[in-house]
Amino acid sequence: MTSTSQAWQYIDLEEKYGAHNYHPLPVVLSKGKGCYVWDVADKKYFDFLSAYSAVNQGHCHPKIVAALREQAERLCLTSRAFYNDALGPYERFMHDYFGYDKILPMNSGAEAVETALKLARKWGYLKKGIPQNEATIVACEGNFHGRTISIVSLSTDPDARADYGPYTPGIDVIPYNDVEALSSIFEKKAASIAGFLVEPIQGEAGVIVPDEGYLRKCYALCKAHNVLFIADEIQTGIGRTGRMLCCDHESVRPDIVILGKALSGGVLPVSAVLADDEIMLTIKPGQHGSTFGGFPLACKVAMAALEVVKEEKLAERAEQLGKIFRNEMLAIKSPLIRLVRGKGLLNAIVIAPRKGKDAWNLCLKMAENGLLAKPTHGDIIRFAPPLVITEEELLEAIGIIKKSIKSLEIAE
Ligand SMILES: Cc1ncc(COP(=O)(O)O)c(C=O)c1O
Repeated sequence: MTSTSQAWQYIDLEEKYGAHNYHPLPVVLSKGKGCYVWDVADKKYFDFLSAYSAVNQGHCHPKIVAALREQAERLCLTSRAFYNDALGPYERFMHDYFGYDKILPMNSGAEAVETALKLARKWGYLKKGIPQNEATIVACEGNFHGRTISIVSLSTDPDARADYGPYTPGIDVIPYNDVEALSSIFEKKAASIAGFLVEPIQGEAGVIVPDEGYLRKCYALCKAHNVLFIADEIQTGIGRTGRMLCCDHESVRPDIVILGKALSGGVLPVSAVLADDEIMLTIKPGQHGSTFGGFPLACKVAMAALEVVKEEKLAERAEQLGKIFRNEMLAIKSPLIRLVRGKGLLNAIVIAPRKGKDAWNLCLKMAENGLLAKPTHGDIIRFAPPLVITEEELLEAIGIIKKSIKSLEIAE
């Protein structure tokens, strides 16, 4: 792992001049290619976080970088005060790619989630006939949808919520992976519920995979009660779980799909909300937007990034390599590993609680051995390499994970 004085200079700069809103592993990266990153001392690592699944196409993918370069030299930003010659083709591309009538382009994931919530409320008032100011959104315990005030109002994570009140009203939170809970809240108050917001797999919560059929049953309940099914596919989408969208595993077509992260291959902050006309056209000119939303550079980059996913069959690779990964993890007989779970190349191991810092220590050990991953919620380590990783590289990476677990066992 990075231990040079040069590296510590960068760490110190962040410590001194940056807000302390993250707790990174002490490694300072300066270069990336495919499934690898290099630190400032030129040490090479497998990247098993992929910037929280934003780099599905691999670091600095040549096709995406070429699209960025080419457009950057022509036209970067126009704002939506004028038309430009990249947005319309991108919107049609997204329609053809995902099969929704319309796209509303945004930048960060959180903005796209906010957009979906606003859309759901608009639809609730204008189409469903919910009385003004009474619309509610149902979300799930353990969710992670971003960091804005309204989104943390949905959160059940004390770190995400504490001291940010007063919270946005009109929110109900039910247990995740609990069809009965959704049914019961719909029975009580469906007339005022505009949308059900759900992650098809809860990524930040520690890769919580719901029971087979959960999404399908929730979708059916939403249809029965005239509630919008809103899928946050920001982390699970774009091939990560072995399908283009994670909802595809259950043949569910959400009313609203939220995309971000790998929509740009990790090159720019690009996010999007997809919906059909009945929902999307409830927002009229002037009622929502963003200076950068749908900027020409983003349009070209996103199209290239999505083409790469199909051309390189990344969803299929994720499906196939994910099975190998989980089988290999399950085969490790170690008192340190309590559980292995995931879908496609979005996986996690749960570390058995012993001394409390095992997950962090294992991540440090793996970094030392040449693989980067990050703990979440103390005892869970997510493994999400770029989907361009080859089987050979994956097996090498698994070797590093095994070796690191072994050496931590010995050290205990
Ligand atoms: C499921 C999900 N939704 C929303 C977000 C927020 O995205 P962003 O950090 O781009 O605002 C994330 C980020 O990790 C996420 O995983």
